[in-house]
Amino acid sequence: MAEPLRLLTVIGARPQIIKAAALSRAIRTRFAGRIVETLLHTGQHYDANMSQVFFDELGIPAADIQLGVGSGSHGAMTARMTEGIEQVLERKAHDAVVVYGDTNSTLAGALAASKLHVPVAHIEAGLRSFNKRMPEEVNRVLCDHASTWLFCPTDTAVRNLANEGISTHPGRADIDRPKVVQTGDVMYDNSQYFGELAKERSKILADLSIGVGEFVLVTVHRDNNTDDRKRLNAIYRTLLEVHTETGLAFVVPVHPRTRKMMDELMDPELLRSLRTAAGFHLIDPVGFFDMIALESASRLVVTDSGGVQKEAYFFDRPCVVLRAETEWVELVAHGQAVLADADPQRIRTAVDRFLGSGAPDCPAIFGDGHSAERICHELIETL
Ligand code: UD1
Ligand code: UDP
Repeated sequence: MAEPLRLLTVIGARPQIIKAAALSRAIRTRFAGRIVETLLHTGQHYDANMSQVFFDELGIPAADIQLGVGSGSHGAMTARMTEGIEQVLERKAHDAVVVYGDTNSTLAGALAASKLHVPVAHIEAGLRSFNKRMPEEVNRVLCDHASTWLFCPTDTAVRNLANEGISTHPGRADIDRPKVVQTGDVMYDNSQYFGELAKERSKILADLSIGVGEFVLVTVHRDNNTDDRKRLNAIYRTLLEVHTETGLAFVVPVHPRTRKMMDELMDPELLRSLRTAAGFHLIDPVGFFDMIALESASRLVVTDSGGVQKEAYFFDRPCVVLRAETEWVELVAHGQAVLADADPQRIRTAVDRFLGSGAPDCPAIFGDGHSAERICHELIETL
């Protein structure tokens, strides 16, 4: 019998842990004996509600290797991770390194592996905002150009890569002949797999005493929103005004970065009002079951998160995007998402429109819920 494929999967930030659940599940249930996965957690996210909760809920095995790098500047964090991953790869041979998305953990995995000629499989390849001021854009462009398999969630991602000279071809993937494969989106796999379970298990609506369709769900964590006094205040002031005028409840699971910056940069009067407004729930980050239960029960989603934008789409919820551009251009094209940046007028116009007319039906453009299996097949066939 052929030797199993040895994958080193690098995760570290919340969305990657969630995405890794899909591949890890496919390996355990469909590819046991043919693929052996070693999970490496860089430690980029470390609070229990930013990391451990997802292992517990989504049935991901405990990480085999913990680098424990913690927070820091981009350079320091990426350097510590790269060094740690390199040491792991030097100690033990792996056939490929799997990385997800566009965080510093993604870049570190791609850098360490490619320098040692270990092929990189990039899941969620080809996304572009065309805004190099985003650390994520730098990470994803560099990672894509160091990857051997570029697993794209959408046709747009495939086109973006073709424009950069990385194309799909029928042959075997090789470090000098990377291969682009449209697999669908592993996050869609998760929303399909966990959607019903979340409704059964999550008690968050009862805990907050809110009903389906009675609230707006908000997440804000992008550095250009949190670390910019003007933008941070403009976003929250506008949301508080909408809450006061409409009487709708607001549920805001606050990312630790945002909590810190609210204390540092927010107008103290606004912060006090947000904390005391009845029905404006500033809460700690929630687990995945609570989050997708909130998304699917919300009247409207307001976010700057990439993953939350997509999940809003998966659950047919309209979405106001607190960014000037998005990598998920299909959502805007289908009219389910509107770009409002941090502009009070644009946020209000978009909110009013969606509260008035809801969202159009969302066609299925993120695959069939089996993207992770497709990725496993591709890796097995070409390695
Ligand atoms: C990172 C990713 C971003 C992703 C986000 C998902 C990069 C460059 N950014 O942003 O692409 O959308 O994760 O959530 O990789 N902190 C804690 N506890 C934690 C984690 C973070 O308190 O468990 C605080 C620390 O003060 C830290 C700050 O949050 O300095 C920012 O964390 P960091 O991982 O650098 O970036 P994120 O904003 O989380
Ligand atoms: N998420 C969660 N709890 C929260 C906020 C987000 O479980 O309190 C999940 C969300 O459902 C999605 C992922 O985290 O699957 C998105 O991660 P995040 O917004 O941190 O990063 P991004 O997708 O923007 O990189």
